[in-house]
Amino acid sequence: MKFEFKNCDGVLQGTLIAPVLEGMGVPPRLVREDKEETLARAMTAQNFTGKKGEFCTVLMPTGLCVTLAGVGKPEGAVETWLQTVGGTLATVLKSVRHKEVMICTSGLSDVKVKTATAAAYLTFGLGLGAYSFDVYKTKKKETPEVELVRILSSDPEADETAFESLFAVLNGVYEARDLSSEPANMLPPAEFVEAVKALKMKNVTLKVLDKKQMQKLGMNLLLTVAQGAAEAPYLLIMEYMKGKKEDAPVVLVGKGVCFDSGGMNLKPSASLTHMKYDMSGGAAVVGTLHAVSELGLKQNVIGLVPLVENMLSDRAAHTDDVIQSMNGKTVEIANTDAEGRLILADAMWYGQETYHPQTLIDIATLTGVMKYVFGSQYAGLFTNDKGLGSALKKASDETVMDQIWELPLHPDYEKMLSSDIADLSNIGKGGDAGSATAAMFLKNFVADGVKWAHLDIASVGWLSADKPCAPKGATGFGVQLLTQYFINRENA
Ligand code: BES
Ligand code: ZN
Ligand code: ZN
Repeated sequence: MKFEFKNCDGVLQGTLIAPVLEGMGVPPRLVREDKEETLARAMTAQNFTGKKGEFCTVLMPTGLCVTLAGVGKPEGAVETWLQTVGGTLATVLKSVRHKEVMICTSGLSDVKVKTATAAAYLTFGLGLGAYSFDVYKTKKKETPEVELVRILSSDPEADETAFESLFAVLNGVYEARDLSSEPANMLPPAEFVEAVKALKMKNVTLKVLDKKQMQKLGMNLLLTVAQGAAEAPYLLIMEYMKGKKEDAPVVLVGKGVCFDSGGMNLKPSASLTHMKYDMSGGAAVVGTLHAVSELGLKQNVIGLVPLVENMLSDRAAHTDDVIQSMNGKTVEIANTDAEGRLILADAMWYGQETYHPQTLIDIATLTGVMKYVFGSQYAGLFTNDKGLGSALKKASDETVMDQIWELPLHPDYEKMLSSDIADLSNIGKGGDAGSATAAMFLKNFVADGVKWAHLDIASVGWLSADKPCAPKGATGFGVQLLTQYFINRENA
């Protein structure tokens, strides 16, 4: 789908969608078009006042087909509200039977935004909501799909410029959603690497560590998870070094389990569904690096994605196995389904030894219980640094979808990870506080003085029902949040 901002002063033809604020009547640009007051009369006849969720489709005497979409009144921050409005319009878009559609935003001209423009935010939300993944559908849809969205604008240049940076983020979200939607047979670790190479990100150096190289480095936790699978593991490294040479980079680590069967602790049938998206943290890191590079931010950012499959075979890790991690600590594998923390531990350690970051952020579909805690509303945030926590919270508040909520890292959770045979167990005793003990496990692999945050996105990586700015399926959670974090850092 393409977006175009156009100054359309001539007579309007085709299909047009117009958001209408509650009680504001026909949008100004359409009043000009509405010589016979068709729209005004249709609104009255259909009792359309612009309340959120109201729709009214009208065929004008000129042949123009107008769908008025009630959007209520601005709630909360206008920037995110406008994105939600755009997301709502995306649902209208799905019922349009034309390849081109116009959007008239003049009904929102009183809505003032500080940065970018109202039309740009609306278009961003529209893009987020209009996503679909149908590469494997061989049957063409009977109705044509919208290919071009023309946003009528009084200042197309300003809107275009404002949308450029939002488009970089939108693209990153799409890439993350695409990667997470790919089934495991199509996107094992090696193919994930190939897919990232194919993105040809500007100013991003790609490096890939294979099994042999990881063996040399002692990344035994990662390799143990991978050893039951026929697919070889990789560590994908993305380096974006556009900051000052002397500035320590921010290291992002995203969980890249291309399929999580649970291993020897095999998941029950229902829990195996959608376990292809257990690499969504990794996908978010890829999307973020691409967005950051497209925005040309003057920062040093490293993205790491440990890529494995967690499978069951005669070579798979046993429960009770004791493995020495890259940082020297020994780990008892009390449950092979707690594999995410194992691959992250080695990747995080590698990231710190290699790049000496001040800030380390990991993002992972780590614990299923997040869904019980938050539904699909929030991801969990754990951090050892208040400043980093508030910076992430601030960035999160500026996004429409990527909401996070901090959970505590009480020191007593550490005791629950004790093992009779090794330095650490990979699960907490008794199974209590599953998300916090997982976070505490990771904290064991954070070097002294490093500011670290862990985002558990198991609750939000996949939706079973549509939301305005995220159709059901993979959400690309984390791209908006992390990119906004870097944008704010740039402006600080
Ligand atoms: N990938 C899962 C977590 C998950 C579950 C993500 C559901 C998305 C949806 C993770 O590797 C896992 O299996 N975690 C276990 C931890 C347990 C063994 C301590 C879990 O959540 O049950
Ligand atoms: Zn698991
Ligand atoms: Zn997993």
